[in-house]
This record gives sequence, C-alpha cells and structure tokens, in this order.
Amino acid sequence: MNVYDTINNRVSIRSYKSDKVELEKVKKIIDVACMAPSWGNKQCWRFIIVDSMVEKNLLGKASNQPVIAKACIEAPYVIVLCANPKESGVKNGIEYYAFDSALAMENLVLAAMAEDLSTCVVGWFDERVVKGILNIPENIKVIAYTPLGYANEIPKHSTRKKPEQTVFYNTWEAPLKNG
Ligand SMILES: Cc1cc2nc3c(=O)[nH]c(=O)nc-3n(C[C@H](O)[C@H](O)[C@H](O)COP(=O)(O)O)c2cc1C
Repeated sequence: MNVYDTINNRVSIRSYKSDKVELEKVKKIIDVACMAPSWGNKQCWRFIIVDSMVEKNLLGKASNQPVIAKACIEAPYVIVLCANPKESGVKNGIEYYAFDSALAMENLVLAAMAEDLSTCVVGWFDERVVKGILNIPENIKVIAYTPLGYANEIPKHSTRKKPEQTVFYNTWEAPLKNG
C-alpha cells in the first residue's frame, strides 16, 4: 500500500477481534510515531502501552462511551498518548504540545495499518480518571488514547467536506482554480 492508499483506507474502528498482537509490532509502530516532526525537535510525546485487562477496562470506562469501553476490552492493547507541555512551545496563543502529539498519533494510526491493525483515536475522556489509572504525574497532559488490534468489522468511510469548503487559492476563501 502506498501512502495515499493507507490514508484513504483508514477508518476509525470501534469493534475488535481479541486476537493477540506481538509486542514487537506495537514497539515498531510507536518507533515510527516518534519520527513525527515536533517543536524544536523536543518530542514532548509519551506513550503508555496498556495490555492489562483491568487497566484497559478502566480506560474504556473513563471515556463514558459504551462503544469505546467495549473496544478497549476487545482490543489487545490500548495506547495512551501523553505530552509534557514544557517540551514544546506556545506561539500566537497556540500550545503546540497538542499539535506535536497529534502528528505522532497520526503516524501511529497509519503505521498500524501497515501491520493490518486498526485504531480509533479517543479524545473524549475524563483526564483525571485516566491519570489516576496509570499514575500519570500532574504536569503531564493526557492527549488521547486508542485501542489497537485487529478490526472485527470495517465500517464505511465517513464523509468529508468538499475541497471548495476547505481549500483556497492565494487568498482566504478564494476558489481553487481547475487544472
Ligand atoms: C482528536 C480526536 C478525538 C476523537 N475522539 C473520539 C471519541 O472520543 N470517541 C469516538 O468514538 N471517536 C473519536 N474520534 C474519532 C472521530 O469520531 C473520527 O475520526 C471521525 O468521525 C472521522 O471518522 P474516521 O476516523 O473513520 O475517518 C476522535 C478523533 C479525533 C481526531
């Protein structure tokens, strides 16, 4: 699969097989996640690989989303992405630790596909609860987590806005030329 196919084929998966995944594959995926660009190459991200059923169960519940709770139990891993804001920058009111982390997460999501594995980024969760489950220190932010495993069912792609709505040419909201 080339990079376009990988990106176009990715969908968020919320139903997983319980099939095992070698830890080596997970490490390989996280290695390339860490190849993402980051503010001053400071690499603020931290990953926690969770394979304990007790913690996976609690992480799922922390989302308060039944479908995510089920996915976190089914998938052999939940990968929790954290960041140290001190290892990134702030400019124009934007705290770039979230941006750096998101780039790493996108790498992770796409690299997972190269191993036939699936993901679903979860951003809606109770951070305090997640920190408690995994002993994450006060100064660290929990950015997102994802179940990681083999898809049980692959849903249809969700729709995207038309390019006319999101891509402009030379100036704000100027239409993109054809050809
Ligand atoms: C920052 C972020 C947070 C998300 N949080 C959740 C979530 O809490 N629960 C969920 O089911 N999906 C979550 N998603 C997945 C989105 O709903 C999904 O990416 C979007 O609907 C597009 O679908 P697709 O990923 O299949 O293309 C999140 C995605 C992102 C990028």
